[in-house]
Amino acid sequence: MALHISITIAYIVVLVASLFFIVRTEQTPTLEGSDVDVIEFYLNLEYLEAEFFLFGCTGEGLDVAAPELTQGGPSPIGARLATFETLNMLLVFMNFALKEIGHLRAIKNIVRGFPRPLLNLSSTTFGQVMDNAFGRPLHPPFDPYASEINYILASYVIPYVTLTGYVGANPELQNATSKKLVAGLLGVKSIEDGYIRELLYERRAQVVHPYGVTVAEFTNRISDYEE
Ligand SMILES: *[C@@H]1O[C@H](CO)[C@@H](O)[C@H](O)[C@H]1NC(C)=O
Ligand SMILES: *[C@@H]1O[C@H](CO)[C@@H](O)[C@H](O)[C@H]1NC(C)=O
Repeated sequence: MALHISITIAYIVVLVASLFFIVRTEQTPTLEGSDVDVIEFYLNLEYLEAEFFLFGCTGEGLDVAAPELTQGGPSPIGARLATFETLNMLLVFMNFALKEIGHLRAIKNIVRGFPRPLLNLSSTTFGQVMDNAFGRPLHPPFDPYASEINYILASYVIPYVTLTGYVGANPELQNATSKKLVAGLLGVKSIEDGYIRELLYERRAQVVHPYGVTVAEFTNRISDYEE
């Protein structure tokens, strides 16, 4: 009886899935197929990183730096100039911002893309991520823009998520052009991620104020949470 029910359920699942597949196939552009979905997923993440780094470094985003890349999508919510304490760190993140603009251009040369989605880069968004990572609310709420170390910690959250996306999705790519693009982006992402890890490692003993928690503990909490 139980076996019979599960076979019926399996049959229904397959049926429903195939219906979705048919609908989806009809909606996808014929030439480029499923690669488009995968690359467009990255496009969201690239928009997010571009805006976070541009705003953090300059107080302005794509609307000023490269308005054509937004395709008329809405400006992000809550992104701000970060509090850099050293010129060195400002230059590091400005470099990241310029790379993201390059990624957006590269993606849009290959796929049609879509306008910038509405991105909520408010300190509340990051505060909630950190609360989740710690499993308790931080007081005051974590604000990525409040200090240099906070901004580095917040950057650690974003590329990690992106990197996971690339690694997970890369084998699904069929088209050689798309594969090359994603492999290229993946390489840069790994370097970025590694670089941010290194920045945090150098600062591992530093206490993040006002939480009385070391950078090492923040990093561990974020890593555990994201895995
Ligand atoms: C942005 O996200 C935060 C956290 O989820 C939320 O509290 C806030 O209302 C959002 N802002 C807007 C304008 O949607
Ligand atoms: C791969 O995708 C690109 C861009 O969509 C397209 O120009 C190219 O013809 C595709 N190549 C193959 C082998 O399908």
